[in-house]
Amino acid sequence: MPTHLILLSAGEGTRMQSDMPKVLHRIAGAPLFQHALASASALDGRRVIVVGHGAEAVAAAAREVDPDILVAEQAEQLGTAHAVLQAAEALKGAGGDVVILYGDTPFIRPETLERMQAMRNGGADIVFLGFEARDPGRYGRMVTEGERLLRIVEFKDASDEERGISLCNSGVVLADAEVLMRLAAEVGNDNASGEFYLTDIPALAAREGLVTRVATCDEAETLGVNTRADLAAAEAVFQQAARAVALADGVTLQAPDTVQFSFDTVIGRDAVVEPYVVFGVGVTVETGAHIRAFSHLEGAHVGARAVVGPYARLRPGAELANDSKVGNFVEVKNAEIGEGAKVNHLSYVGDARVGERTNIGAGTITCNYDGVFKHRTEIGRDVFIGSNTMLVAPVTIGDEAMTATGGVITKDVPPGDMALARAPQVNKPGLARKLFARLRAAKAARKG
Ligand code: UD1
Ligand code: CA
Repeated sequence: MPTHLILLSAGEGTRMQSDMPKVLHRIAGAPLFQHALASASALDGRRVIVVGHGAEAVAAAAREVDPDILVAEQAEQLGTAHAVLQAAEALKGAGGDVVILYGDTPFIRPETLERMQAMRNGGADIVFLGFEARDPGRYGRMVTEGERLLRIVEFKDASDEERGISLCNSGVVLADAEVLMRLAAEVGNDNASGEFYLTDIPALAAREGLVTRVATCDEAETLGVNTRADLAAAEAVFQQAARAVALADGVTLQAPDTVQFSFDTVIGRDAVVEPYVVFGVGVTVETGAHIRAFSHLEGAHVGARAVVGPYARLRPGAELANDSKVGNFVEVKNAEIGEGAKVNHLSYVGDARVGERTNIGAGTITCNYDGVFKHRTEIGRDVFIGSNTMLVAPVTIGDEAMTATGGVITKDVPPGDMALARAPQVNKPGLARKLFARLRAAKAARKG
């Protein structure tokens, strides 16, 4: 039988102080809800996201990440049980189990959901995920008897004795989909908040003789984001984990704490990453590549043994072939840098292809934008582009061609040719000395 997912994401997130729905705030480049979806990526059933505040924006973002996701709208946020019920239509006739996750809780481990599934297979009708809280605060408290969960009491409704319980509710639930929907529909709102609490389910289940059990996980997994401070803390947790994974995978990080990863960064074995490097979304670095200090990469592919930086910027569509070099203060966007090619200093290469072993001199710019359209620059193999060359696209430089320093290249250069495109030099004998004398005299006159 399949296991479905309901991702509760209707809440406003007032404490974020934001015009943007909470679950769209990002950790490591991915919106919060996407992290929660990733936790559940091993589940084989339908995926339903319950949206409310900023419904359109959240639904659109969710469909972008997961085109098959089903969207259920909760127009008014009347509580977690009410939110779950909104997904009933989307799960109609689907059978199987369902897992409830929160869109603002990004770090539930897939292994934890597997353990909950094992408890289901071991005979539990419903499994709630709890944790031992260092500071139980306002979490729901779990009242147990042995392995059985008798009920959950929300903080507002709890007695002093119940508030003394340190086993807290994470909010994650696994149950038979049909059972869960039936019980969620029985939940009332006669409580301190006037909300329909999903946490009433264990007590309702017990009345029917159904067995609810508690699985536990580390408190760190249950970290929820409610404030900007929580978001920053979650980012730090993610980065710490990503650095540890990179190190374990055989990547050298000279100063791990200064390197920033995205949720999808892939770095090959024996790559070296110097301090203060930022990996934006969509970066793959192949084995043995060397990313030097203060480089910023996004949507880029760095081939094996390529060297990037220091102070390089790779923007989306940068494709660096094996053994290529992109040096300091170089920006590459939507461009292929061929095998063994070098763009070492102070250049902009955009909407271009640079052939194998070609050398791009310092200060070269592909002038790709005419103010309205973008144009391509094609540079062949074994080309030498002189320093400070402006390549006015669209333009093609043939294999083994050269451009002289300081050229403004507006016409194609055939293979093997040398292009000279600058004004010839004229020397005026003694004119500099004369000019200096005139200017100094003028300055002295002004003072006097
Ligand atoms: C909930 C639990 C509490 C648990 C805590 C863990 C209930 C009644 N309480 O409390 O036991 O310790 O989570 O963090 O379930 N949401 C909707 N629609 C709603 C209400 C909530 O989509 O009508 C979503 C929120 O966006 C959020 C999640 O469900 O992502 C949890 O809701 P929230 O109001 O934060 O619950 P808590 O009071 O924190
Ligand atoms: Ca909460």
